[in-house]
Amino acid sequence: MIQKKKVPLHPSRPSSTRITAFVDLQRLHNNFRILRRESGQRDILAMVKANAYGHGATAVARSLLKEPGLAGFGVATLQEGAELRMGLGASRTNPKILVFSDCTPWETWKRSFCQKHHLTPVLTSLEDFNHFIRQGAHRTLPYHLKFNTGMNRLGIDMEEVSDLARVLDQLEHRHQPQGWMTHLAHSEKPNHPLSRLQLQRFQELRGRFWQKHDASDWHFANSAAIWNARAWKVEDQSTLVRPGLALYGIPPWTDAPQRGLKPVMRVEVRIIQIHQVAAGQGVGYGFTFRPKTSTRVGIISAGYADGMHRLLSSKGWVYAGTRRPLLGRVSMDLMAASLPPSTKTGDWVELWGDHLDLWKQAQAAQTVPYELLTSLSDRVERRYVDGSRS
Ligand SMILES: Cc1ncc(COP(=O)(O)O)c(C=O)c1O
Repeated sequence: MIQKKKVPLHPSRPSSTRITAFVDLQRLHNNFRILRRESGQRDILAMVKANAYGHGATAVARSLLKEPGLAGFGVATLQEGAELRMGLGASRTNPKILVFSDCTPWETWKRSFCQKHHLTPVLTSLEDFNHFIRQGAHRTLPYHLKFNTGMNRLGIDMEEVSDLARVLDQLEHRHQPQGWMTHLAHSEKPNHPLSRLQLQRFQELRGRFWQKHDASDWHFANSAAIWNARAWKVEDQSTLVRPGLALYGIPPWTDAPQRGLKPVMRVEVRIIQIHQVAAGQGVGYGFTFRPKTSTRVGIISAGYADGMHRLLSSKGWVYAGTRRPLLGRVSMDLMAASLPPSTKTGDWVELWGDHLDLWKQAQAAQTVPYELLTSLSDRVERRYVDGSRS
């Protein structure tokens, strides 16, 4: 995401008077170390696609550069990769940036783009791989191969592996893939029959190619697979892992054990007016909420243009010393919430963080934390803090 330059408003609140996402980089590092521990000290390819799940890709990546065990970064698109490379600038290290979905279909121009920005394409079909080889791109670019072990999204099909092997056999050792990967459909359920099949197929691939490629990367584990590392044989079967959600401190499924993870982001919004709404009156567009008794209603300064889903209308929460419900419709810039008597105009309330679980908020919007995090718009100020509240 290209961040627009913010206009400073006031020395004490540099750019936002209405909604701020605090991003705690100390927590990011703690979570990183927890993920290394849980994965048997595998190296970590930090997933920073979609602006690091809304946390700010450049800031997150720059901060992680100093972590031992960092294998590099994962993005979805070529544009994200190029922006990240530019954001990392003249850093002494030159971390790997893998581009996961935007290299299919492989098109001729992508070779020079990847070369220019030092990006590592992930090739996800035999057709793409053949095009890549015909073009001679393997002579100048490192690349990973992704296999479809059963998820049926992106990946070289298992039936095509023999054809692939024939082409690989023709290539010099230095032009072989740097990595071999797959992606899991049910990583939170390692005993699901599809999970068993996916692991078995990945093991078959390793059996077939490992000996010639023991120096390359082998990877399949996202956050939920790391959380089930033993069942997925993460330590035996992979050299690196690819966490996203858990890196940002959100457990990989709704009631997953925390294991020390702490949310990296806390979103705070400001109460900008308070009304005492009489019984029978309504609040907001369409009067979809009508209090039965007189109710203290705070107008808070975030709406769907900031990334607050409209499905949170009368379903989501704020934390204002206690957890309070949102009332009525979420509109573009504003929402309303029930407030305790202790609150006053100008106070800040939490939308998610330590007091309001992001899974709970996401479920209220019939979605998952991934979508709420990546919906946070450019209008939301990201403020980086370093361990001030751990
Ligand atoms: C290929 C790939 N690997 C890893 C991840 C990280 O997943 P998670 O955020 O669940 O850890 C993703 C995210 O969607 C992905 O697409």
